[in-house]
Amino acid sequence: MTIADSFFVPLEDTEHFDKDDATCPQFLVSKSRGFLPRQDPLAELPADFATLDSLLKRMTVLQPQDRNGDRSMGLLGTGDFGSAVLKELQPEGREVQAVRAAIAKGDSRLISALFRDYCFATSAYLLEPVDVAYRKTGRYAPGRNRLPAQLAVPLKLLADELGHFPFMEYASSYALMNYRVKDDDYKGFAGRYSFENLELIRAFQDADGSEKGFILVHVEMVSFSGQLVSATEAAMLAASQDDMPAFESHMRRMLETYRKIQVSMESMWKRSKPQDYLKLRSFIFGTGPKDTNPMFPEGVVYEGVDTKPMHFRGESGANDQLVPLGDNFLEITKHHPDNDLTKILREFREYRPATHRSYTASLEIRASEIGIRSLAMKTSPLSKALYILLVDQIREFRARHWRFAQAYIIKATKFPLATGGSEMARYLPNNLKTVLRVLDESISEWSQLDFDSLQSLGADETLLAEMVERVIRATDYQRQELAQEVSLLQEERRNDPDSGMLDAKAVRQLVV
Ligand code: HEM
Repeated sequence: MTIADSFFVPLEDTEHFDKDDATCPQFLVSKSRGFLPRQDPLAELPADFATLDSLLKRMTVLQPQDRNGDRSMGLLGTGDFGSAVLKELQPEGREVQAVRAAIAKGDSRLISALFRDYCFATSAYLLEPVDVAYRKTGRYAPGRNRLPAQLAVPLKLLADELGHFPFMEYASSYALMNYRVKDDDYKGFAGRYSFENLELIRAFQDADGSEKGFILVHVEMVSFSGQLVSATEAAMLAASQDDMPAFESHMRRMLETYRKIQVSMESMWKRSKPQDYLKLRSFIFGTGPKDTNPMFPEGVVYEGVDTKPMHFRGESGANDQLVPLGDNFLEITKHHPDNDLTKILREFREYRPATHRSYTASLEIRASEIGIRSLAMKTSPLSKALYILLVDQIREFRARHWRFAQAYIIKATKFPLATGGSEMARYLPNNLKTVLRVLDESISEWSQLDFDSLQSLGADETLLAEMVERVIRATDYQRQELAQEVSLLQEERRNDPDSGMLDAKAVRQLVV
């Protein structure tokens, strides 16, 4: 990291940046839009990309309803996407020339939309056999290990231009570059980014069902990130200037914002059904980590780019910024143990736009230099309570998320790797355990005196004091519950080492 990176601070506003400079990257970090792109994603591609657009529209496993209300199978549903790509797109065809022209012109909105679309086509192409096998047998099979030049070359050109890996990512393709706002003036829980005012641009499985719910709940949550970044930066500034009343007031804003984010997150259960998740999940796996992803044991050769195979982690919410922001501001990151799982957590931070990477890294350094944790714990009972309640927000996020992982994935498949490539039954509890440890340490510094002084300040503060007491009671229970769940899962795994993959003979019998 450069010195400049370590002082990376977000912009006040990015919304109207493009009026001056269309080449300015889509992903900045600002106090207005947080981690959302500075412009809403481009949904319609220029005419040069009509064939690519048509393939992407025809590919979803379930096609949109026709006039009679019927839904047919798309190219991925019938297993014909790979052959359609080879037939309809040519190496060095019209699209590749148009990609080069778009890059030369530097229109960042178009370049970002093209990156999204080539990522969708690439993942659909490579993972089609994995999904066909899963739908037929409930087990996974290896994916395609060569990406044809008609996809590989333009994808690599776009990735190099944007500073990304040439593979689908959470922010720049799957989620944050993949929403369309229906009504600009919509007023709802999250303003114009309220779930019911959003549509998907691209989908693999079903643009109107649980896939829509899964992706757009992430977008709705991230739409609060402008408020979160704004409050975090104001708290940092106040802390660096020893302005404690302002520090407390901005920590309160952070707390309120995390609460809204949790409400949005909880809506996942009804918007994306647990029993549908594995139907859409096949397409967001990665081609790595190297040597350990049995779907791509030898990686993938990008034809026309490199003769050596490449490996990339898959799309994952692990590349989102909401939790790393809290981890870094609250100095939870430094409490993560020095082990292989924390190495993965660090690696996930590479799979995001350059400005998101720099912001996360900068926040970690700045919060540690200021000493946010010790400042909050020593200043007043109010700042201590707010620190504890903010750590508890990260706990609540990770605890709900662990319930998601169990209900949506672990109950339904023996395949141990998550889409980002971590061994999820170890990775997620490891992070939750770290937060519980930070919570324990912080709670141990909370006393009856703190409770009484906070109560004496008024009704709002009494509420905060009571919330801290609830956290204290719940933490113990959560620790025990997690330990039991993990040990049960470990025992199940020891007794049943099923990999969730088809064996080689069964794969040969499947015609994909
Ligand atoms: C049905 C819902 C969800 C499921 C099944 C799910 C599943 C997973 C899994 C299995 C991982 C492990 C990492 C990997 O991919 O290798 C992960 C990581 C992660 N996901 Fe999700 N996820 C869900 C929703 C969300 C949402 C809505 C967010 C919000 C942004 C999110 C944020 C994260 C974060 C921050 C991590 C890293 C974990 C950590 O730091 O402790 N996920 N997710």
